[in-house]
Amino acid sequence: MPGLRVAVLASGDGTNLQSLLDAARDPKAGFTVSLVISNRITAGALERAVRAGVRTATVAQDGDDAARLLTLLGECGAELVVLAGYLKLVPSTVVSAFAGRILNIHPALLPAFGGAGMYGRRVHEAVLASGARVSGPTVHQVDEGFDQGTIVAQWPVPVKAGDTPETLAARVLEAEHRLLPAVVRAWARGGAASLSLAAPAFGPASALPALSDALAP
Ligand code: GRF
Repeated sequence: MPGLRVAVLASGDGTNLQSLLDAARDPKAGFTVSLVISNRITAGALERAVRAGVRTATVAQDGDDAARLLTLLGECGAELVVLAGYLKLVPSTVVSAFAGRILNIHPALLPAFGGAGMYGRRVHEAVLASGARVSGPTVHQVDEGFDQGTIVAQWPVPVKAGDTPETLAARVLEAEHRLLPAVVRAWARGGAASLSLAAPAFGPASALPALSDALAP
């Protein structure tokens, strides 16, 4: 069953894309990954898409790609666009054309630790430098800025004594792989309305560690 048609934009390894490809194999998931677009021809995400039999496309690393993105998204009939480690700003015409229907996953609890230049290792370095005891992924709607749109879901992950940016990143990434498919499944069931956009959700309750566990050192 094809279900909701999702296009994924990714620049890197694509483990979040993989979590969507894996989830979509469940006939009850209600969504399908129709197209994977990358601005990096060597992105692992493209290989993962090919292995899963999903159509791929590339856009230029630099420069204006608004028209090409709109054509590609239109051709595959995308109903929802997911940025899964996409390190390029989405052009404003694409944001407008898909208003409210572009989601991004960020590896920290926005609105803290986000914005231009806050990606990859730097995010986790900043979390550790702040002394925060909780981190975790955020899924948010995309607007014209970096990491600014409405938050739709977050997942608390403990910051542990002795964490390095790498150990923290690995723990957060594990939560990302649960949170992102859960959000897309919810969207497939009921559209944006099924996500309480006014009040960010903390993941599906059944799958969540208790907050006390999350806070334990
Ligand atoms: C993830 O940490 C995501 O939150 C961020 O970029 C990373 C992408 O990782 N936006 P992957 O390519 O999905 O493995």
